[in-house]
Amino acid sequence: MSQTNVALIPISKENEIECISLKPREDQLSLVASNADSLIHATKEITSKPYGIYAEDTMVGFILFDNEIYSDGYYWILRFMIDEKYQGKGYAKLAIKEVINKLKNRIDCKQIRVSHVPHNIVANNLYKKSGFQDTGEVEENGDVILSYYM
Ligand SMILES: CC(C)(COP(=O)(O)OP(=O)(O)OC[C@H]1O[C@@H](n2cnc3c(N)ncnc32)[C@H](O)[C@@H]1OP(=O)(O)O)[C@@H](O)C(=O)NCCC(=O)NCCS
Repeated sequence: MSQTNVALIPISKENEIECISLKPREDQLSLVASNADSLIHATKEITSKPYGIYAEDTMVGFILFDNEIYSDGYYWILRFMIDEKYQGKGYAKLAIKEVINKLKNRIDCKQIRVSHVPHNIVANNLYKKSGFQDTGEVEENGDVILSYYM
């Protein structure tokens, strides 16, 4: 893999159009909300903050995660995607590593949690390879919950 790092840069007025233009593959559209929807969601979930995932100067993906502890006591990754053009290059794994790095000094961050639809095997592989474990818990809609223990 040639890429060695990615940067997480907050979404602002300057880069939100670029963010909204990013899309997963057609067959992945049911796995994650559009980035436009996620940016609206971010304004409602006040503990969360949206970031562009950058490889050099290019935004290759999007991630929304808690920057403060959520009311249930966890830090959640709420939305996550890599644009179809940039998948399979290791960017998702690097982005998760960056999230863990950003949160590892938070004294109240004991677990980072994420959920995915049960048949999203790619996401499940990715999270497991990044150190997440099954919790055995599911969301009300049936999404399975994984956790990274800090
Ligand atoms: C899931 C997603 C973010 C992965 O992005 P990516 O940049 O292609 O992933 P990476 O290249 O970093 O690969 C990381 C790991 O994911 C898994 N993976 C990636 N592509 C895969 C594929 N086609 N088949 C199986 N596993 C795959 C592998 O475990 C891989 O690790 P490895 O290369 O060491 O085997 C991307 O496919 C995506 O945006 N999907 C649609 C939205 C989505 O499902 N979001 C998650 C919602 S919870």
